[in-house]
Amino acid sequence: MRVLVTGHHGYIGAVVAPQLAEAGHDVVGLDAFLYRGCDFGPEVGRVEERQGDVRDVTPTELAGFDAVVHLAALSNDPLGDLNPEWTYDVNLDGTLRLARVAKEAGVGRFVFSSSCSMYGASGRDDVLDEDAPLRPLTPYAESKVRAEEGLAELADSGFSPVSLRNATAYGVSPRLRLDVVLNNLVGWAFTTGRIRLLSDGSSWRPIVHVRDIGRATLGALSAPRALVHKRAYNVGATAENYRIRDLAGLVHEVLPECDVEFAEGASPDPRSYRVDFGRFEAAFPEHRAEWTAREGTRELADAYRRVGLTWDEFDGPRYTRLKRLRALLDEGELDGSLRRREAA
Ligand SMILES: NC(=O)c1ccc[n+]([C@@H]2O[C@H](COP(=O)([O-])OP(=O)(O)OC[C@H]3O[C@@H](n4cnc5c(N)ncnc54)[C@H](O)[C@@H]3O)[C@@H](O)[C@H]2O)c1
Repeated sequence: MRVLVTGHHGYIGAVVAPQLAEAGHDVVGLDAFLYRGCDFGPEVGRVEERQGDVRDVTPTELAGFDAVVHLAALSNDPLGDLNPEWTYDVNLDGTLRLARVAKEAGVGRFVFSSSCSMYGASGRDDVLDEDAPLRPLTPYAESKVRAEEGLAELADSGFSPVSLRNATAYGVSPRLRLDVVLNNLVGWAFTTGRIRLLSDGSSWRPIVHVRDIGRATLGALSAPRALVHKRAYNVGATAENYRIRDLAGLVHEVLPECDVEFAEGASPDPRSYRVDFGRFEAAFPEHRAEWTAREGTRELADAYRRVGLTWDEFDGPRYTRLKRLRALLDEGELDGSLRRREAA
């Protein structure tokens, strides 16, 4: 398939786009390159790429593609605090506009990178499947809920949107992020000798390795239309739901010289959800998630050791989205609509 991957230069995209190309797809990346220069390691495989904002794509640019894998987004809760309007503009309006343009250009399949964070405040230990009530707590999660709804309305005989509700990602990528929970805990441990919890650690969170998001994406691209048309799937593994404090315990097992500590005044994080991944596992047995948090912790610790990750890097803008975007805004590289000035 000829596939346009938006956000191919981000944390997940830098792993998934080459993974799709390795599997035989003809991949073109499209990204605003908000994280240019924020490399953790060399690219794992380059794909043809274009610079642009997903909010400005034209039907001509999408002509000839069979599928769009839409990853580009303001991709976490804290970014919603920067200015919630930007999160809605890129993640909601930008997604729906891109989907309409794709449909107009005759693109048949639209794989949307959604998020389990839309289950938000489940408040209980029950395992939630795709039909569970959605309780988004942040502009980010809300933008994903509304984008899924809008995409479903666009579905017709020639256009099949599918929403992959990814668990929180972890794992090594050429564009590493240290603002996702497991990468962050291993980062604390490695750079300070302390595994620091900012909450009381009681919240549930499902986690998934970036390469397993890639496997799921491959599944969604190659599946018969009926399996994906207007559907939503949780992406992760049911055994990979953890309380944050249990993840800290795992990190302690892999790096036993480090102590677990709680930030002053640490309280429960209201974002707590435990997720059932059975629907995806039944529909896509060949694309089930393979990684475990324990393996991921080892992978991360080895990678941090290899590059000699320092506290200043851990604490700086290179690997933390909010700090990076604040720096770009301060330097005047982004305009008031969060578009790169040079691309304007
Ligand atoms: N990281 C996670 O834990 C996680 C979990 C669930 C879902 N997701 C979803 O997966 C997708 C990818 O997440 P990620 O962690 O790789 O994010 P990321 O922030 O690392 O990468 C996003 C990429 O999109 C690009 N981008 C942002 N706005 C753009 C725009 N307007 N036009 C063009 N490019 C733009 C950025 O330059 C960046 O390269 C997102 O949709 C995110 O919501 C992520």
